Amino acid sequence: MAATYRIAVMEGDGVGTDVIEAARMVLDRIATNADYIPTDVGWEFWCNEGNALPERSIKILKECDCALFGAITSKSKDEAERELAPELQGKGFVYRSPIVELRQRFDLYTNLRPCKAYAGNSLNYRDDIDIAIFRENTEGLYSGIEFFPFPDEVRKAIGKHNRAMDRFNDVSSDEIAISLRVITKRGARRIVTRAFEYARDFGYSSVTLAEKSNILLETSGLMSREAWSIAEEYPDIELRETNIDAQMMWLLKNPNDYGVIVTSNMFGDIVSDLAAQLVGGLGFAASGNIGEEFAIFEPTHGSAPKYAGQYKVNPIAMLLSVKLMLDWLGERDKAAALEAAIASVIADGRVRTYDMGGLASTIDMAKAVAERL
Ligand code: IPM
Ligand code: MG
Repeated sequence: MAATYRIAVMEGDGVGTDVIEAARMVLDRIATNADYIPTDVGWEFWCNEGNALPERSIKILKECDCALFGAITSKSKDEAERELAPELQGKGFVYRSPIVELRQRFDLYTNLRPCKAYAGNSLNYRDDIDIAIFRENTEGLYSGIEFFPFPDEVRKAIGKHNRAMDRFNDVSSDEIAISLRVITKRGARRIVTRAFEYARDFGYSSVTLAEKSNILLETSGLMSREAWSIAEEYPDIELRETNIDAQMMWLLKNPNDYGVIVTSNMFGDIVSDLAAQLVGGLGFAASGNIGEEFAIFEPTHGSAPKYAGQYKVNPIAMLLSVKLMLDWLGERDKAAALEAAIASVIADGRVRTYDMGGLASTIDMAKAVAERL
């Protein structure tokens, strides 16, 4: 008998609940042998417990093979503090994005974001776009190493090693904020390697490193050096290097020229939203947060609180994330069948959610996909 998977289900909040329901409908139809374990995460846990990602949830995740994640609201530091239960305010609770924390705690260093223009989707910017973004998911500008106010010792230490700090000598500590962009050789090598492996597995002829090594001499420079050294091991795949700003322009100009794109965390965050829009918007953008032994699959879109519970949003991003999960579990046939069912509903054009100019609900779309399976 096939193994029974243990899959944690974190619906989160906002439309997370709606799209997770859609995912379950489709998974039940595929008849994957799995236990689904509801796992607390989201804004209400922040407000009531001062922690959007309670430790009990981490414990569940550690006992699961992988997880599905719906969506989560994240707000600025000040807004988060205001919405905290009155008895928790002023007690030093700090809101951190649970998904970013999960990526880092479970070392899910690959954020895979495929963006495909499915035939017949009237929202496609061009036909035949097929891009897979590999976003480094644990370091870069998301390192969490930030300062405000800027401690004098840190300022002095930096000044000792880098004269560029002198330009800010006249700025007082409470008028300067600093975020560190951390790129490690290990981090650079493993994301670039995953990108090349994926290109080889799925038949892409090129990998494009989109960084900014003309300005970020050290961090982008390190990524670039490592990428060129790794490329030697993949003589069948061409490595190209671009600057991220120009890359955004080229993606609009010639999206069909690109296959696999690899980049650091924040650039990947930005370029993946742009690439999503090329293939119909966030309703079509799936992602996998993948480590060596654990992975979390989530739509790229946020929690869209104004649509919460209305079953309005397009679940295709979530369903394509389920497809990525099935791939990762090694259920390649089921993954391919699910993708084919989604593609066929899109091509058919009869069931369309509001973003596609139709009136179908989240559930109508999930049903249509389930019926094709
Ligand atoms: C994404 C999102 C997240 C990110 C937010 C919700 C923390 O924009 O997954 O792209 O910044 O990574
Ligand atoms: Mg983003």
